[in-house]
Amino acid sequence: MNEYDTEILKSILGSGFLFTTDPGEADIVLLNTCSVRENAERKVFARIYQLKHENPGLRIGILGCMASHFKDKLFEQKSLPVDFVAGPDSYRQLPEMLARSQDSGFDVTLSEFETYENIFPFREKGVNAWIAIMRGCNNFCSFCIVPYTRGRERSRSPQSILQETQQLVRDGFCQVTLLGQNVNSYRYEDTGFPALLKKISRVEGLKRIRFTSPHPKDFPSELLTVIADNPGICKHIHLPLQAGSDRILKKMRRKYTRQQYFDLVGKIRDVCPEMVLTTDIIVGFPTESDTEFWDTVDVVETVQFDSAFIFKYSPREGTAAAKNYPDDIPETVKTERIIQLNGLQKNISLTKNRAHIGETHQVLIEALETKKSKADVQGRNDGNKLVILTNNDYRLGDMLNVRITGATAHVLKGITE
Ligand code: 5AD
Ligand code: SF4
Repeated sequence: MNEYDTEILKSILGSGFLFTTDPGEADIVLLNTCSVRENAERKVFARIYQLKHENPGLRIGILGCMASHFKDKLFEQKSLPVDFVAGPDSYRQLPEMLARSQDSGFDVTLSEFETYENIFPFREKGVNAWIAIMRGCNNFCSFCIVPYTRGRERSRSPQSILQETQQLVRDGFCQVTLLGQNVNSYRYEDTGFPALLKKISRVEGLKRIRFTSPHPKDFPSELLTVIADNPGICKHIHLPLQAGSDRILKKMRRKYTRQQYFDLVGKIRDVCPEMVLTTDIIVGFPTESDTEFWDTVDVVETVQFDSAFIFKYSPREGTAAAKNYPDDIPETVKTERIIQLNGLQKNISLTKNRAHIGETHQVLIEALETKKSKADVQGRNDGNKLVILTNNDYRLGDMLNVRITGATAHVLKGITE
């Protein structure tokens, strides 16, 4: 979402500014920030001091969720060298803020309406394009700061999303990823998420459609049918579990039980057995006992996710959990639990990935080198798994039939047929 917001920002700032990726060349540095976990915020603070140390004359702006989270504090704390603060709904104000040459600027008002619908983001040429179909969230999961930093849920019109998708195809993109805090809540007049997805799947020239994330509490059967019936919609669902114990799920205000989660997974696999499932999990939520942690382990063992992002709980100021429950699980216990769960998931991912050896997957090439080698290219299969193969004059956006010859817990390796 932040990468996409940065593209919107670049478009809003437009031709009045020159962009650079080298902070040493910049007069102004804007940090587009995330507040979802404490660690993300810590990194931003460290970065501000580092930037200012390297160039005391630099003007620095904090954008995004940390702007909303710290509101007046950021500005009042004169010790923090920040000149601009703009929340996720205030980006239209930025050109004016930055133009006031020596002054500082501040706007963190959250809007009920802002979707940046009429702004065409400034995207680098590539394979994948993000499109936020909605902004904000109304769910108020007790651990989560997003409803406070990004405000209430609002959806963008299907017409504008379709027009943008058509334009993206003309610009050479072949995949779109639809973004929303809970895409199942997407609604614009009569159009819900399954209908939107169906409309987008008819855009000619688009090779792949992805979306993230649906909430397990309100996953409609119609959505499953739309995914299963349309070859262009990738067979991958990111379905955040968060916890496997009913008592903890209730305290998290997730609005589903472990049995309902199992039932949903069963339904998904009945309709589409090859669906790749990934998830998010939090360990060490306040009062989580050993037995309740093992309930989460049990769900992970039973569901056999393809991969999982596992986080230690960190209290976020202003959320119901931070207000009502002391952060009482010791750091050492959180660490033990995350190590345990990551170890288990790694084995599951490895077993699942190895089972692909010998199969042929369609791979969309996304990068013409890998972190480790300039002689290799990388892409993703339909299920969003990374696939690496030796370069053979391939181009970005090539869709190749790749026979899988090797696997680790994180990547597949293959050769073209
Ligand atoms: N502590 C730890 N993890 C969190 N997440 C959200 N809020 C917190 C928190 N307070 C995780 C959830 C969510 C993902 C984006 O971040 O798992 O799905
Ligand atoms: Fe946060 Fe819950 Fe909304 Fe996801 S659904 S953004 S976890 S409040």
